[in-house]
Amino acid sequence: MGQKDDLQTVLVIDFGAQYAQLIARRVRECKVYSEIVPYDISIEEIKRREPVALILSGGPASVYVKGAPSCDEETFKLGIPVLGICYGAQLMAHSMGGEVARTGISEYGKTKLTAGEDTILFDGLPLKQNVWMSHRDLVKSPPPGFKAAARTEVCPVAAMENDDAKLYGVQFHPEVVHTPFGMDILKNFLFKAASCSPTWTMVSIIEKSIEDIKRVVGDGRVICGLSGGVDSAVAAVLVHKAVGDNLTCVFVDHGLLRRGEAEQVEETFRKHFKINLVYIKAQDRFLKKLKGVTDPERKRVFIGEEFIRVFEEFARSLKGVKFLVQGTLYPDVIESGTRDAAKIKTHHNVGGIPMKHDFELIEPLRLLFKDEVRAMGEELGLPEEIVWRQPFPGPGLAIRIIGEVTSERLEILRQADSIVEEEIKRAGLYKKLWQSFAVLPCVRTVGVMGDERTYFYPIVVRTVTSEDAMTADWARLPHEVLETISNRIINEVPGVNRVVYDISSKPPSTIEWE
Ligand code: XMP
Repeated sequence: MGQKDDLQTVLVIDFGAQYAQLIARRVRECKVYSEIVPYDISIEEIKRREPVALILSGGPASVYVKGAPSCDEETFKLGIPVLGICYGAQLMAHSMGGEVARTGISEYGKTKLTAGEDTILFDGLPLKQNVWMSHRDLVKSPPPGFKAAARTEVCPVAAMENDDAKLYGVQFHPEVVHTPFGMDILKNFLFKAASCSPTWTMVSIIEKSIEDIKRVVGDGRVICGLSGGVDSAVAAVLVHKAVGDNLTCVFVDHGLLRRGEAEQVEETFRKHFKINLVYIKAQDRFLKKLKGVTDPERKRVFIGEEFIRVFEEFARSLKGVKFLVQGTLYPDVIESGTRDAAKIKTHHNVGGIPMKHDFELIEPLRLLFKDEVRAMGEELGLPEEIVWRQPFPGPGLAIRIIGEVTSERLEILRQADSIVEEEIKRAGLYKKLWQSFAVLPCVRTVGVMGDERTYFYPIVVRTVTSEDAMTADWARLPHEVLETISNRIINEVPGVNRVVYDISSKPPSTIEWE
């Protein structure tokens, strides 16, 4: 279920670009709805979706390589405006009778571009500007009916246009921030070439979602598992707006949460939004299961299984519930089925959902990117602490305690972690970091406090920057911030006599320690 139906849609045809998602996001930032589709989408399917425009993404291939991803030539004859980007532009040129050259020279990075007079794409923009290039092949001469709209030192056709046929191509990447006028070029394509309307606003998305949920759910009953994170929180508030008291939220406290997290969920949902909230305190169950368990993957499995058990027991106790809300996001929808990465860690979506169930799923965020979910959360009045919360793993502090999880060790970690969070926030760094947290290893080290020898735990401070958690770098925190964190942890957390800072990037390390 989504919220688009009668909205104008721009389809981004993905030729294997690392930037395909970024293109879709940029189009949406222009308030036009956009979706990504694979390059082998059929012409019939394109027609069925009635897009107002198509954007062909870049891709790693050369049009001359056998089996290179391609699209039906009819794509360019549908009368739908098309913008080809990089490989997409080469494909357009190649299909329409232009010349694509294999220069063997690549052009990469910031590049000076000179645009022609009277073009659509550069209308109202400086004729000389910097753009971001990343290519080897290039369009040497445009197809009949096209004119070269810009050039660079290496590319005679850095942009091309056939305004009668509404076909446009750019060799550079307007979607990346390194092309300063990139958004303006995209807007020229969307609004001047393709006559789109900027109607996809957060308010309209929310209204449409609520209508859709009402239509599907009717007066049925709905449950939603809350994890404390932004996705399930936004989904819950949205569904609540649509079905009111027919929604019951469930929050399973497995005792592996950070300080204040459970209280905040109660405060926000029960008190502020007046949503039916069942708060299941299951700390003892989880601790019992984790007794003696030291292997990280076994921890994940036990926590995942126990979570499902608690959730199912609860679901059985509710009569007549037909729908289950899930906070699935658009990147999961695009990637599901195509991902074939080696298993590094099992990422149970704890706070998530039983594998087998009889519920009908409501996924109100399945067309949104994370930043859009945050914007929606703000629009819906969710507190900043939830909207901007850093990712937190489902198995919680259990995978930040190396070795056995005990209530004593949980308390140490929780205190140290809250100091890290407080100081990072005080330094104004919280939103800039992907994650910042404490880890409790299973060794003890010698220290001296007063005149006494101590033999206590160290705390590892881990703070990273990242775009998507696939790669990450350790954050270059100011020494003063590190100093305050260290002093506070050693002075305030009993049982700790040392603080170390993790300076490893991912890869080869991972963000979490387990
Ligand atoms: P790693 O440690 O693999 O983590 O670099 C990448 C991102 O995933 C989060 N993470 C998890 N999330 N269940 C989750 O829901 C898990 O078991 C899990 N393990 C890691 C981690 O916090 C980081 O954001």
